[in-house]
Amino acid sequence: MQANKIYKGDALELIHKVDAESVDLIVCDGPYGINADQWDNIPNIQEFNLKLIEVFSEKLKPGGALYLFGKPDCVDFIDYRPFLNLKSKLVWYQPSRLAQGRLNFTNNYDIICYFVKGERPAVFNLDDIRVPQLVELEHRLRCEKVPSVKNGTYAGTKFNENGKNPGDVWGDIKQLTYKSHELLSRDVLHTIQKPLKLMERLVKASSSPGDLVLDPFCGVGTVLAVCEKLGRQYMGFEINPEYIELAKRRLNKVRREEASLLFSK
Ligand SMILES: C[S@@+](CC[C@H](N)C(=O)[O-])C[C@H]1O[C@@H](n2cnc3c(N)ncnc32)[C@H](O)[C@@H]1O
Repeated sequence: MQANKIYKGDALELIHKVDAESVDLIVCDGPYGINADQWDNIPNIQEFNLKLIEVFSEKLKPGGALYLFGKPDCVDFIDYRPFLNLKSKLVWYQPSRLAQGRLNFTNNYDIICYFVKGERPAVFNLDDIRVPQLVELEHRLRCEKVPSVKNGTYAGTKFNENGKNPGDVWGDIKQLTYKSHELLSRDVLHTIQKPLKLMERLVKASSSPGDLVLDPFCGVGTVLAVCEKLGRQYMGFEINPEYIELAKRRLNKVRREEASLLFSK
């Protein structure tokens, strides 16, 4: 299979054509098992995800990463440990979600499971994903002199001027709305298109320029567009030809923008 292409078909079949241990990063924003759409109608999402984790682990290089999107229970009661190590469960918090529940607390976050093949990630570019320190200067100065828990002496708290680790609850990236400039079509709002900023954080954190990134459920190509812009190689799988068309147009636009930037330098 060639890099920088979108392949039409079922991800679970296409994945077998990918070379073993050839992929640096997989961003898997596939079925959640919650929608009426046919493609999302998965009777047991945990078993489905376990299958994905198993096949993806064969394709990842040692130290490679998988980000698996889903609802809070997406990996409950399955044993993924023979295949990959779960490093974090990132919470993508969406406070704007309508709180319509009457008998329970309304769910207003998605989970992004961050898995690594082996103990340590081959790449974790923290400096590329730092977020602003949301502390007032005064508070910050106060915090800089806190007694050490160990022996009661004062120690300086280190603040990185370039920002902090984004942590595992991400409330700073908003869901797309009808007004978002990056929205490709109204039809793709709720069920599929994710914000570029969200995918950018994952791609930047867990890959370097030239690395190969696989998006097995690429939709309208958000991850691929990020890869094109950031100089990663990529491969996308998608079953819906209309989404593939939108993704291809989007990639061409990114290429044109990149080329005109090069000329203007
Ligand atoms: C949540 S969406 C991905 C959205 C994508 N991250 C974006 O921003 O455009 C999941 C996508 O997986 C596709 N899909 C579902 N089942 C599939 C399968 N078995 N093989 C390939 N694609 C599939 C759907 O058509 C849908 O576009």
